[in-house]
Amino acid sequence: MFILAVLIQILVAIGVNCQPGCNSELFLGNSCSHGQNKTTIMWYFDSTLSFCYPYQFLGCDEGPNSFKSQDQCLESCKPADQFSCGGNTDADGVCFSPLDQSCKKGATCVMGGTVGFCCDKIIQDQWNEEHSPKCQSGSVAQIEQWFGKTPLIGRNCSHNFCPTGSRCIQQKWTAHCCV
Ligand SMILES: *[C@@H]1O[C@H](CO)[C@@H](O)[C@H](O)[C@H]1NC(C)=O
Ligand SMILES: *[C@@H]1O[C@H](CO)[C@@H](O)[C@H](O)[C@H]1NC(C)=O
Repeated sequence: MFILAVLIQILVAIGVNCQPGCNSELFLGNSCSHGQNKTTIMWYFDSTLSFCYPYQFLGCDEGPNSFKSQDQCLESCKPADQFSCGGNTDADGVCFSPLDQSCKKGATCVMGGTVGFCCDKIIQDQWNEEHSPKCQSGSVAQIEQWFGKTPLIGRNCSHNFCPTGSRCIQQKWTAHCCV
């Protein structure tokens, strides 16, 4: 049963990204020649981290890897049950609960739905820390999700995704904004 679940996950991972735009490089667009500033926040699928991140679209000439919302991007590009360890690194074995001692030394059991995966503990801790960001001064910019507010996490400060007036802080894999 568990072997089957893992097999399905692998098959799903291979068949990832049905929509062709998902694997295209991010294109920020061009500023529109006439008239006002039409920049908006859009979302793209980052194939390195296998997740959707915001970027500031310049308003004209939208690229193929571009979505109106994070949900729309995830639905189009990432199978719901695809699992990877922090930083989209590979798991080294399966496990069955966070208390499970069956992972190799230096690995921690991270639950991914019905099964857990053995993930490198140092990378996983770093990844988790980046995903609960802090600001030296001020507070972390957040976004409203259907389940509540979460920190606004982008891939790279060069994508200009931070709200006007906030500072972008680049970390190892991702970036956040301090208001
Ligand atoms: C256009 O508007 C966006 C968002 O309101 C802002 O971040 C950006 O700096 C503006 N760009 C210009 C060229 O005024
Ligand atoms: C962010 O983008 C810049 C410019 O494209 C690039 O040089 C840099 O390596 C990127 N940083 C990360 C953490 O991906």
